[in-house]
Amino acid sequence: MKIKAFAPGKIILFGEHTVVYNKPAIAVAINRGVDVELTSRDDDEVNIHISPINYSQKLVLTGGMLEYEYDSSNKRISDYIYEVINRFKFNHGFNLNVNINMYLGAGLGSSAAVTVAVLKAIMLYTDNDATLDEIASIARDIEIKIQGAASPIDTAMSTYGGIIYIDENSNLNPINFDMQLPLIVSNCEIAGNTGEIVASVRDKYNKHTPIMESIFDAMAKIATDAKMALECGNSMKLAELMNMNQGLLDAIGVNTLELSEMVYQSRKFGSEGSKLTGSGGGGCIIAYAPHDIDEVYLKLSQLYKTFKCEQSNSGVYAKI
Ligand code: MEV
Repeated sequence: MKIKAFAPGKIILFGEHTVVYNKPAIAVAINRGVDVELTSRDDDEVNIHISPINYSQKLVLTGGMLEYEYDSSNKRISDYIYEVINRFKFNHGFNLNVNINMYLGAGLGSSAAVTVAVLKAIMLYTDNDATLDEIASIARDIEIKIQGAASPIDTAMSTYGGIIYIDENSNLNPINFDMQLPLIVSNCEIAGNTGEIVASVRDKYNKHTPIMESIFDAMAKIATDAKMALECGNSMKLAELMNMNQGLLDAIGVNTLELSEMVYQSRKFGSEGSKLTGSGGGGCIIAYAPHDIDEVYLKLSQLYKTFKCEQSNSGVYAKI
């Protein structure tokens, strides 16, 4: 038996950081993510391979279960896979190939995409007919267990796909957008530490509360206007709002020299809108160049690790 599943990664288009303060945000599932191939075995072996990091591990089921304890002081992408496997009982072993087709640990939701794709494949293997809501809930639970804390955005995007507006009450509302949203993602290859960056924003908020509140309110207005711009297909407005959001992310201290340089390079190359995405402090920028995406992509990819993507309208799915 061979099972294949895919789960998309995500970018945050608007509202990173302010979402922590119950302000709206917009997240986009992208058509780059994680592919999983599970092949059944006749014995009790579980062979796991993760590419492109070249991780291979051979384990044996005991009483249909895998006994694996991860090291909480040293979180690794494989921990999410073991945590998924640990939640099931198996009659036979299997080979699991996990292919991460996006940047790992760069704010694109790679751990959520790995968790959700592996969960889907294993549920199919064990004849477990889970709903998307169940997948999202288990995946979130796994992220919380391994990371200590996790916003529901990443696992929701990998599960449901599409473009989602997270409102002030943390409800996830799909945005109706029936065009393609072409984006360029460039990676500065410096990992930001989300926990530390969120804490630094909190410090600034405590020190300069009225100023930070005004900035957060402006960011919230940008996110709600961006929702409307998407719904009306107003690409120039969307681009302008991305640039404004970038300026405010700089103001709250999550921008870096490297990210700034990438943002300005992308604008010099012709992108109409560009900003950091995710926590900042490192990770990726997104560039929106609806008029000349190929030229901007080419030039950015000569300087930085870069890929082109669009939104993924579907979340996790089994591949036939
Ligand atoms: C990180 O991808 C996004 C933040 O808003 C943190 C969070 O929402 O958990 C910075």
